[in-house]
Amino acid sequence: MAAQERTQVGIIGAGPAGLLLARLLKLHGIDSVILEARTRDYVEARVRAGVLEQGTVGLLEEAGVAERLHRDGLVHNGVEIAANGQRLRIDFRALTDKTVTVYGQTEVTRDLIAARLAGDGPIVWKAADVAIHGIESDRPRLGYRLAGVEHTLICDFVAGCDGFHGVSRPSLPAALGQTFERTYPFGWLGILADVPPCSDELIYASHPRGFALASMRSPTRSRYYIQCSLDEKIEEWPDARIWDELKLRLGSEPVPDITTGPSIEKSIAPLRSFVSTPMQHGRLFLTGDAAHIVPPTGAKGLNLAASDVHYLCRALVAHYGKGNDDLLNGYSNTALARVWKAERFSWWMTMLLHRLHPETSFEAQMQRAELDYLASSQAAQTVLAENYVGLPF
Ligand code: FAD
Ligand code: DHB
Repeated sequence: MAAQERTQVGIIGAGPAGLLLARLLKLHGIDSVILEARTRDYVEARVRAGVLEQGTVGLLEEAGVAERLHRDGLVHNGVEIAANGQRLRIDFRALTDKTVTVYGQTEVTRDLIAARLAGDGPIVWKAADVAIHGIESDRPRLGYRLAGVEHTLICDFVAGCDGFHGVSRPSLPAALGQTFERTYPFGWLGILADVPPCSDELIYASHPRGFALASMRSPTRSRYYIQCSLDEKIEEWPDARIWDELKLRLGSEPVPDITTGPSIEKSIAPLRSFVSTPMQHGRLFLTGDAAHIVPPTGAKGLNLAASDVHYLCRALVAHYGKGNDDLLNGYSNTALARVWKAERFSWWMTMLLHRLHPETSFEAQMQRAELDYLASSQAAQTVLAENYVGLPF
């Protein structure tokens, strides 16, 4: 048995990129079908990013899904950098007149799924073996299997929003493109717990034992990360060991007491910088992690997915509304110009704050000098602030 359907934009992946794209397109009268390999429960439970740039908040407002975000999100006017026994506050509002909002990716995803399922169009959960055909034709097709039945979705365009391990990027002709990659010799161990945060603002700490980050999801839920080595296993990190390590790395400066409690999520993620160019070929367009990865230190991953979606949506609206394909043809170049700047910032923040060289090395002296300079220069603080709050779309 085989089934055939038709839509304007076939979207692969119900992560933040795919869901936001579908929502914005619908508000412009453009139909889509989202094919998602996982279940709704799995997608809604995936704990990831937590910091939204002001531009991302603006896009979620435009998408009409910001009600809960404005009610429960925490507006932050700055962050703190703890290093060399001192804490330096980077005052976003004073330096850039902008802020960021702490609101979990899980919540963004839930809000977008709820809006989608309230009448915008289908999300096909558990779509297996999605395959992309005919991207150089004007009727690309997506094949997939659902509960043992083969389906074909005929589209005008395909949006590859299926993350780093998806099928979209490998469907671009390899000979046409180029990839750029940097791996880092450490990972992040994250812990989520229902305890009050140790500070009102995020603290990024560079400590001789390694990097640590104190973040949060709400006044009663904390998110912490520590730099760990890549060969470490999560089983080697019972909660008590993580809390002890956090106290050591965050504690040498005057940090309020860390409240500890049982973890509700714990995971280790490797750090990677990756860009695949171009982000389009024929009628296939990549957005978000499908095209690029940043190390999480600058809190940019989710925000980059949102700016890609903005550019792609605008281009599709011009195509359907005015028959003008200039923006579609320029999508990759436009998106990449912003992507590369976020890659630079994420790489710089990562290299500034993680420990990967002996304390006596030249590189460690460079880190100290850079941190010293940051502490003494308003110009340097402004550079950090304007990148952290997000460059304009
Ligand atoms: P994704 O969120 O990856 O969504 C892709 C979707 O496509 C998924 O739902 C997936 O199931 C689906 N999919 C994949 N393959 C297929 C297929 N073949 N067929 C159909 N569907 C498919 N960023 C930060 O800023 N801070 C963080 O702390 C942070 N932590 C992270 C931790 C982890 C473990 C990971 C993986 C990422 C983290 N990120 C973080 C990055 C941030 O979460 C991503 O940049 C963001 O999720 C990108 O959204 P996306 O929609 O492009 O991709
Ligand atoms: C969070 C994650 C980040 O990568 C970051 O830079 C800041 C906050 C978080 O999950 O809260």
